[in-house]
Amino acid sequence: MSRTTFDEKIDVFQVIQKRQSVRKYEKGVQIPNEELEAILNAAAKAPSSWNLQHWRFLVITDEAKKKELLPIGYNQQQIVDCSAVIAVLGDVEADKEAESVYGEAVEKGLMPEKVKETLVGQIHGAYKNEGPFPRDEAVLNASLAAMQLMLAAKGKGYDTCPMGGFNRHAFVEAFKVPERFVPVMLLTLGKAQEEAHPSMRKPLSERVVYNSF
Ligand SMILES: Cc1cc2nc3c(=O)[nH]c(=O)nc-3n(C[C@H](O)[C@H](O)[C@H](O)COP(=O)(O)O)c2cc1C
Repeated sequence: MSRTTFDEKIDVFQVIQKRQSVRKYEKGVQIPNEELEAILNAAAKAPSSWNLQHWRFLVITDEAKKKELLPIGYNQQQIVDCSAVIAVLGDVEADKEAESVYGEAVEKGLMPEKVKETLVGQIHGAYKNEGPFPRDEAVLNASLAAMQLMLAAKGKGYDTCPMGGFNRHAFVEAFKVPERFVPVMLLTLGKAQEEAHPSMRKPLSERVVYNSF
């Protein structure tokens, strides 16, 4: 396994600096499938609670489907101009993945069966509790993948915009999203036609507290 050493230069900071929410895209750009899959694979490398990989990516490239999505996304033009809209969904029944995730680890000799059984039991136990836990987990973990997707896209020379402004109920209906998944956000993905509007950030002094409030 390769290890990163402290003197290695990784241009992740550059990618982070350059990512901005782009809302004007070149129309008619098709992203080659290998590039799209490289971006999705990078997103799926995100960490997740118990490695349950709560994200699902509904990739919308079909022009008719994008048109259908337009009013659901409150007529935000970027939906139809971009190359693909990726709906990031979160799995509210992610404990159903426990058996296969840990079964594979056992098969590959990465984990003893006994440890797997303990973990799988723990996971099902956590998901049995009433309350917001499964939904919180779905949104939390899928959001990590969404962020990673945006950075991976930028690394490949594409731009994105995260969108929370859409009618979730209408989206679920129109795209036949199974009950098991909650729509977390939409990401537009494509080639920028215009730069994003500049965005400001509060100074760290207003956002960071050391040790305790
Ligand atoms: C959860 C979330 C929802 C957002 N929803 C929208 C949206 O519906 N439409 C839009 O144009 N931008 C949306 N944005 C983009 C923000 O406006 C943008 O990230 C912010 O202004 C900072 O700009 P920057 O991303 O270019 O740095 C959303 C961002 C996030 C994280």
